[in-house]
Parts: sequence; structure tokens; C-alpha cells
Amino acid sequence: MIGGGKNAFIGAVHRIAANIDGQIELVCGALSSDPETAKESGKLLFLTEDRNYGSYQEMIEKESLLPVDTRMHFVTIVTPNFAHYAPAMLALEHGFHVVIDKPISLTLAEARKLEEKVRETGLTLCLTYTYSGYPMVKQARQMVKDGAFGEIRKVLVEYPQGWLSLPSERDGNKQSSWRTDPARSGISGCMGDIGTHAAQLAEYISGLEIAKICADLNIVVEGRPLDDDGNVLLKFNNGANGVLVASQIAAGEENALKIKIYGEKGGLEWHQEEPNTLKVKWLDAPSQIYRTGQGYLSQAAQYNARTPAGHPEGYLEAFANIYRNFASTLQALLAGEIPTADMLDFPGVEDGVRGMAFIENVVASGQSDQKWLDFKV
Ligand SMILES: NC(=O)c1ccc[n+]([C@@H]2O[C@H](COP(=O)([O-])OP(=O)(O)OC[C@H]3O[C@@H](n4cnc5c(N)ncnc54)[C@H](O)[C@@H]3O)[C@@H](O)[C@H]2O)c1
Repeated sequence: MIGGGKNAFIGAVHRIAANIDGQIELVCGALSSDPETAKESGKLLFLTEDRNYGSYQEMIEKESLLPVDTRMHFVTIVTPNFAHYAPAMLALEHGFHVVIDKPISLTLAEARKLEEKVRETGLTLCLTYTYSGYPMVKQARQMVKDGAFGEIRKVLVEYPQGWLSLPSERDGNKQSSWRTDPARSGISGCMGDIGTHAAQLAEYISGLEIAKICADLNIVVEGRPLDDDGNVLLKFNNGANGVLVASQIAAGEENALKIKIYGEKGGLEWHQEEPNTLKVKWLDAPSQIYRTGQGYLSQAAQYNARTPAGHPEGYLEAFANIYRNFASTLQALLAGEIPTADMLDFPGVEDGVRGMAFIENVVASGQSDQKWLDFKV
């Protein structure tokens, strides 16, 4: 693991998620940008002294010199956005598979270079767009794919959070300070941090691609250099239209990601804060409530659930699904087998490139007076 040391946020979540299925073991780390904190953090996680590294460069180089059956199989990168590309590239150059948190990089150009390197090396890159890992998201996607709703005509996705309602970055909050700093976060704040999740979820469930956008980005907390709120109109490649709203100044909201998708015959609705329920609505029949763990669900939804119906699964299990599917893919490849479609169902480098394109397009549209811009990748 690179990043995720003491006082870091998402690294600990990755460790829990990676551990849930017993396929993955943390064997080494460079857990902080500060070598001393890195080592202190590694000790707390019982890393052995010789594999508790002070920097990611040292870790990747030394690990690559170990015997094949001892060295790490893959590296997880859980640093702020500006510190994704260099370790990911170095890991790929040394023959290691990579897990990386979103957004994949600081710029679209970096994302493209990673995509090229993944193609060239044949290694696997997994991107943790967490929300695509939920069983009921898999169910939603499968129903759309099966044509249950007919042609998709409308996609509404909203992702309101309230935790950046005040300028906590000025009081030394570690997570808000890098997210509101263009040098460490990239050219967008809110749209890069959570708008990308919403866009990926909309494309993942609908099976469509965003083709045109019209964005209005806002800086609500005075003095911030990056957007902390925004509204985006969307047109998809089949002609469907949509709206994406993301905000980090929606005071009182926790992590209220919601999506609604409508076709000719009906639609669906999923809320991240109530993830075990999928509402399905019909033009000519009563609405239905689908629930996690039930035998009537699709293969993909059942494959990505662990507990019997009525035993709630949530964020950690959704995260774990991404790790489990990635690890199963690596296991199959190591055994010379072809991974199944269920195993291969995790976001990859292409999602990373589309995510970075979303950020660049949304910012370009926000700065433009033209109503619609073509979504360029
Ligand atoms: N998938 C999700 O739902 C989700 C949720 C939160 C964060 N994230 C993403 O995860 C990443 C990390 O976010 P966070 O909130 O955990 O950040 P954080 O500030 O809490 O932690 C970042 C960690 O990276 C370390 N670090 C920085 N540079 C490093 C380097 N060169 N070498 C080693 N370690 C280094 C820091 O010391 C710290 O331990 C971001 O890209 C963010 O967008 C994703």
C-alpha cells in the first residue's frame, strides 16, 4: 500500500475491504509521504521491518528484487490525486498490477499514459469507483441490460454532501486542504472528488456514454480556488438526456448519492444510504421493491452479495466486491485460466480515462458561454 498511514482516511477502508474475503494480505507499505510517519504507521499494522518502507520508490524497487513467490503481487495507491500517477507508472514499469483510488490521476494526459502502459504491459489496473460494487447497482445494471425498461430516455443522478459547507481547509483539516488545492486535487474540486463517482455510476448502470454536457460550476464558500458545487445537463450517446448534481456544501447531507433511470416502460431508483433496496417502477403496473440477498435477483447481484436477505450489507462490502473481483481475476490469470465475466466486473483504466475526461469536459463547459459542448475523450 502507498499512502493510507496514520490519520489518513480511505487507506484504512481499503485495508478492511481487501481483507473481507481472505484473498489479499498486506505484505508491505510506504504508508505516508513522511518516511517517519510511514514507518510508524507500518509498525501499527505489523508490517515486518524489512518491508516497512520509507518511500514508494524504495518499496517498488526493493520488492521487484525479491523472489517472485515472495514479492507483492500488486500495489494499492491511496494518496491524494497529485500522487497517483508517478507511483502507478513506476509500479507498472516494475511489473506490478495496480489498484488506485479515483480519480485515476491529476490530468487526462496522465490517465492516457497509464492506459497506454497497461496495454503495453498486459498488467491489470483496478480503479475503486466504490459505488459500482453494490449488489443492487449490479441488479439495476442487469435489468437495464436485459431491456426490462426498454430504451433508456432519462438519467437523474445527484450526489450531495455537506462536509465542505465551512472552510475547514483553513483550520488544518487534512482531507479538505488537499481537496481544495488545485496543485494537489486537479482542476476541479467537487466534480473531481464526487461528480466523477456520479458520472461513473450513471454510465455503469445505464450502459450509455455521456456525449454532450452543459455545466454550471460554483464556488460557494468564498475564497476557495475550486468548485464546491455544480449542476450539469447531460446528453447520452443514445439520445437520452440527464442531470448530474454534485455538491459538497449541501449542509446536513452525509453521502446522499441517488440515481434514477427511466426507459420507455419503467424506471429504477437507488439510494446509496439505503443500498440494500432497489425501487423499480412500471408504466402500467405497481412499483416493486427489490432487496439484496433474495433468490430472484440476477446472477451479478447474487455474486456480489455475501449475507442472507435481511442482513444489511453496505459500503465496506461494496468496496470488498471490487477487491474480490480484482483478486479473483489475478488468481485466474496466475493459474493460466480465463477470468469469468463476474470476476472481470470491476472498474479499470478505461473508467479512469473517462473520469478524467469528465473532469476536463465539465470544467471546460463551466467556463464556456456555449450551451452544449461535445464530451471529448
Ligand atoms: N472511492 C472512494 O469512495 C474514495 C473516498 C475517499 C477518498 N478517495 C480517494 O482516495 C485518495 C486519498 O484520499 P484520502 O481522503 O484518504 O486522503 P488523506 O489525505 O486522508 O490520505 C492520503 C495519504 O497519502 C499519503 N501520501 C501522500 N503522498 C504520498 C507519497 N508520495 N507516498 C506515500 N504516501 C503519500 C499521506 O501521507 C496520507 O497518508 C484520493 O485520491 C481520493 O480522491 C476515494
